[in-house]
Amino acid sequence: MNYKEDFPLLKNSDIVYLDSGATTQKPQKVIDAIDEFYAKCNANPHRGAYMLSMEATEVYENTRTKIAKFINSRYREEIIFSKNATESLNLIAYSYGLDNINENDEIVISIMEHHSNLVPWQKVAKAKKAKLNYMYINDNFEISDEEIEAKITENTKIVGITHVSNVLGTVNNVRKIIKLAHKVGAVVVLDCSQSIPHMKINVQELDADFIVFSGHKMLSPLGIGVLYGKRELLNKMSPFLMGGDMIEYVYEQETTFATLPNKFEAGTQNVEGVVGLGAAIDYINEIGYENIAKIEKEVVDYAIERLRKLDYLDLYLTPNKENHQGVISFNIKGVHPHDVASILDSNNVCVRSGNHCAQPLLRSLGIDSTCRASFYFYNTKEDVDALIEGLEKAYKMFEKYLNK
Ligand code: ALA
Repeated sequence: MNYKEDFPLLKNSDIVYLDSGATTQKPQKVIDAIDEFYAKCNANPHRGAYMLSMEATEVYENTRTKIAKFINSRYREEIIFSKNATESLNLIAYSYGLDNINENDEIVISIMEHHSNLVPWQKVAKAKKAKLNYMYINDNFEISDEEIEAKITENTKIVGITHVSNVLGTVNNVRKIIKLAHKVGAVVVLDCSQSIPHMKINVQELDADFIVFSGHKMLSPLGIGVLYGKRELLNKMSPFLMGGDMIEYVYEQETTFATLPNKFEAGTQNVEGVVGLGAAIDYINEIGYENIAKIEKEVVDYAIERLRKLDYLDLYLTPNKENHQGVISFNIKGVHPHDVASILDSNNVCVRSGNHCAQPLLRSLGIDSTCRASFYFYNTKEDVDALIEGLEKAYKMFEKYLNK
């Protein structure tokens, strides 16, 4: 089955879209769900006593329940809507980090974190005079068990880790990290932005304290994100943003706050985003994660096999296939990735080039940018062939300069 048929942008163009790590394309079902919301029940949830507003509230809150079920959270109020994973991570850093980190405490993150799971922790560490320590990668682009054991110590209070690297595609050993962090009494912030589009996330089984992801990387509209947090932690945290709907009583000088989840949802929310995320979850459930993984494995394995044959490429990829997922970073030796990406674009092939919001990682690899092809279940082996053809074209254009 070629799933491109379900995606208007892919169905109606020659575009070879290999940038799903940045954002996925949107299926017709998601577009239709948003249309229907606006056509049939647009109103501001939680705000009106009239039927239409109550219907909008029902749609909004039913989606929360759907997400809770999707990631198997124990309580629906553990699901907080945000703008994206970045906002969710900032919420944790401000509302949990600043109140719970003290001088000389250690915050441990990995060198492969996206800036969104790194810069907020720099802020907390600086404000509280705490230490920000890194788990580094080995020659296989993986964080070894020894590195995890060395960096998580009795002083560690927070561990921030991406489930899957947005640059390397490395799948981290998050089970070990979470277990070890809990052994020393630390809380774990797990960034599932690059994993949840591709694999089932079961929050109770993983036992991370906080989990974040963005809807737009899993077929939903831009501008909707999720924060999952254990109820006992969220209950103790102070609100992040202040305003409408997150309050209980407001007096001239004091305010009491709403209970979960409203406490963390200030102001009118992105209801269209929530509706789209709900439709995306239905669509993912319809296809099934097993099926998604099977399709992706076939295409990504084929891509790796073909890319490995191009001796003018540097590949930033673990050799352990079981620890890799959906993202391949590469460079044509001696050619700037932006030039390569532009030539690929002239063949209608979309890849991301740059530092992928992971400058410390790239610096640790001795580079400042890569090209990155990222795949989803709508990609085919023909897409890979188009990528290879584009790379051959780029190499031929630069070959004579490179060999001088
Ligand atoms: N975080 C997104 C990426 O990796 C935008 O491309």
